[in-house]
Amino acid sequence: MKQRYIIGTLGVIALCIVVGCQSDATSDTTTPTMIQEVKITEAEKIALGKAIFFDTHLSDPVGQSCASCHSPEMGFANPNHAFPTSEGAVAGLFAERNAPTIAYSQYSPEFYYDGTGYVGGEFLDGRAATLELQAGGPPLNPLEMHNSSKESYIGKIAQASYADEFKRVYGQNIFADTNKTYAAIGDALATYERTSELSQFSSKFDAFQKGDANLTAQEKLGLDLFIGKAKCFVCHPVTNEDLTTVPALFTEYDYENIGVPKNPNNAFYTLASEYNPDGAHFVDIGLARNPQVIAQGRAAQSRGKFKTPTLRNVELTAPYMHNGVFSTLKQVVSFYNTRDSDPARWGEPEVAENVNKDFIGDLKLTNGEEDAIVAFLKTLSDGYIRK
Ligand code: HEC
Ligand code: HEC
Repeated sequence: MKQRYIIGTLGVIALCIVVGCQSDATSDTTTPTMIQEVKITEAEKIALGKAIFFDTHLSDPVGQSCASCHSPEMGFANPNHAFPTSEGAVAGLFAERNAPTIAYSQYSPEFYYDGTGYVGGEFLDGRAATLELQAGGPPLNPLEMHNSSKESYIGKIAQASYADEFKRVYGQNIFADTNKTYAAIGDALATYERTSELSQFSSKFDAFQKGDANLTAQEKLGLDLFIGKAKCFVCHPVTNEDLTTVPALFTEYDYENIGVPKNPNNAFYTLASEYNPDGAHFVDIGLARNPQVIAQGRAAQSRGKFKTPTLRNVELTAPYMHNGVFSTLKQVVSFYNTRDSDPARWGEPEVAENVNKDFIGDLKLTNGEEDAIVAFLKTLSDGYIRK
């Protein structure tokens, strides 16, 4: 899968328009040639990150890339809907969580405590503060890409068709230092993940916001309910107060326990005790597993909380919630509508503490209103605005 990255000046300019180029060569003495060099490096990093992202030779056994669980065709979530959570490179081993979309994840701020709760970070519990750090997780996770060491993973990059490009971008001697190489791979992946390829803002909803498309009567009703009676906007905001330069992300990347029940079909429960000592009794306590949260003494108040996901492309990213317990958007909306008014239908929350009771559980939506909210959620899929 040799790919060539010949990027002429025009290509660089086009790329800078699409993804934005950050040049740190801003001093007055900078010549145009120097600026161009910095920009080419940025473009090469993106191409490199993309090549790594889609390379199926980097798992052990080979066959699994980042894109295997985060496919562009499925909103950068897992295309394999046979299981509620993701199967690893080793058949029969499963991650305990449902692979989320990673589109728009570049907008999650670095993990921090804002005085009342935690915000941002990567993973559903924020345990990787940034995309760069996150990218170091899956290659060594035995339930995902299953490499035995950083060295064995790096060895595959050193053999890849893009190894020369890797050296050109990160230095001819980069492979001499394991930790530096590992960080450089994370840098390349994160650079790709920050491109507009993953954050397109090209949905029907975006066209509607710009006045370039009309919502159907049902979609419009869904939007009205979303920002009104159904209170979804409280956690999935439709306007963007903090990031005025970016359209709505439908999340503020904060953490809530919305009372999602356990998923009895989570294949992680069936794994041997070396992977899952608790068997079917495993409980995912979410944010309370984050080492920083534990170190700061806030585990109890964090039990059962998960990062609020973006709803962009949600039509494509089934199943839903951290454990994939719901397979349709209709089920999700019915859950929000009747969690507390019809508890027998849903079962106990996976974690009983910290369940949000303020905006969820007895919304008194009619069946038709539930359907309208689902219709609105389907306007959030990218690709409506043709380029
Ligand atoms: C076997 C499937 C699988 C593979 C392969 C995989 N991931 Fe993931 N990814 C997941 C799961 C599951 C989660 C959620 C894990 C958690 O929260 O603990 C996740 C979470 C993420 C997140 C955080 C998203 C968010 O909203 O917090 C990013 C970013 C990400 N993956 C990028 C990558 C990259 C880059 C690679 C390749 C180096 C990769 N993934 C390989 C399954 C996978
Ligand atoms: C109190 C905050 C809150 C409110 C209100 C809220 N959500 Fe959520 N939403 C979350 C959190 C947190 C999750 C992730 C929970 C998990 O994984 O366990 C989530 C997950 C989802 C998902 C699943 C996304 C995925 O990729 O798995 C959908 C769809 C969704 N919400 C839609 C809605 C709709 C529609 C409403 C209004 C009826 C709504 N939400 C109201 C916080 C909220």
